Amino acid sequence: MQNQTIKGFRASFLDVIADPFYETEADCVRYFPDGLLVVEHGKVKDLGDYETLYPQYADIPITYYRDRLIVSGFIDTHIHFPQMEMIASYGEQLLEWLSTYTFPTERKFADRNYALEISSLFLNELLRNGTTTALVFTSVFLQSTDAFFEEAQRRNLRMIAGKVMMDRHAPDFLVDTAASSYLETKQLIEKWHKRDRLLYAVTPRFAITSTSEQLTNAGKLLAEFPDVYLHTHLSENVKEVETVAEFFPESEGYLDVYDRAGLVGSKSVFAHGVQLTDREFARLSEAKSAIAFCPTSNLFLGSGLFKLEKAKSSETPVKVGLGTDVGAGTSFSILRTASAAYQVAQLRSQKLSAFKALFLATLGGAIALSLDDKLGNFEIGKEADFIVLNLRSTPIMALRNKSSDQAIATTLAEISDQLFATIIMGDDRAIETTYIMGEKAEF
Ligand code: GUN
Ligand code: ZN
Repeated sequence: MQNQTIKGFRASFLDVIADPFYETEADCVRYFPDGLLVVEHGKVKDLGDYETLYPQYADIPITYYRDRLIVSGFIDTHIHFPQMEMIASYGEQLLEWLSTYTFPTERKFADRNYALEISSLFLNELLRNGTTTALVFTSVFLQSTDAFFEEAQRRNLRMIAGKVMMDRHAPDFLVDTAASSYLETKQLIEKWHKRDRLLYAVTPRFAITSTSEQLTNAGKLLAEFPDVYLHTHLSENVKEVETVAEFFPESEGYLDVYDRAGLVGSKSVFAHGVQLTDREFARLSEAKSAIAFCPTSNLFLGSGLFKLEKAKSSETPVKVGLGTDVGAGTSFSILRTASAAYQVAQLRSQKLSAFKALFLATLGGAIALSLDDKLGNFEIGKEADFIVLNLRSTPIMALRNKSSDQAIATTLAEISDQLFATIIMGDDRAIETTYIMGEKAEF
């Protein structure tokens, strides 16, 4: 369904235009209590104060979301689509959790039709939680990657995904080979990378399940296709880090295993990084790589507390986005994830402000995925993926975020306070509507 090419949305608007970890928060956010967003051909044409801007756009159709806050669509920098059905699997930490629950579940994705069915449920769940872009692990089966991309393409979504490469230390039914993973990945890159809004990530699962030969092949693919992503797990769990040291005795640590294979670059996204050393943070900073901080997963699997203050230090700044890491993560909601991030910060005697959390959920995620020229806020020309938030979606939130009359909040301090409460208490119920390229998403 193609709507008018130019249209407006009136509501309160909040976006993040610079990194509040390094600049004064007030300089990093824009807040329009009564704002107008103009979208043309699916992209942002204008954003400003309604009264000021309206005369210029008097003839366009305007949708009015009274008492609602519109923000940029959330970005999930690490999630597994085949693990949707095994979310909340009891009692294990990473390595046992993988063998007990994950591998048997991922086996089902050899069936293309099943993969299509779950892709659809998965994308519905992302959209109803306000996530408009994600970096996604599929499974080892090429047909599951195909299915995922097909479903994302049908919905005109900006998604990044890749076939999992894993050629050892997993059940026979779930492994490829160094050669087959190279060929299949190449085929998938040629088919899907930059097709409509889709992008490809070379996706070795982690160092334990790849031989050096497979990691080298992953590096070869990155050299052949320099603008594709690298997506893997890194230093999540203590036992995992010890196992990697055993398997790769010649390497100087976990990150170095990837580095030797040519996998550490500016389009590399590493999930977790809970156990990273200072030297590894410095190397990630130097390489301009990104970390997906997955707090609900790190708490659920007992992996540990990510050192966000270290990643966002001035000495060794590393790009960071939020990841749900479903099915180890416990929610599809980036609001729930940001709430967990706040709690992880508290356990490290750190503070994560509402605007910093919103940055991680939007522009920070876009920067981590090298998509900040296209996504992350309402700068002119960016893709109009956005969400309509109800800050009073439950009785307790209505009480907590009660406001005078119409506008949600008039000052930056007020919106910061209400956003904070929404992050701490909010979930999918706070997401009223999700827009993709200026069109209401159907799910
Ligand atoms: N490390 C290797 N595979 C996985 C996975 O599926 N989930 C998580 N959380 N960590 C991993
Ligand atoms: Zn993961």
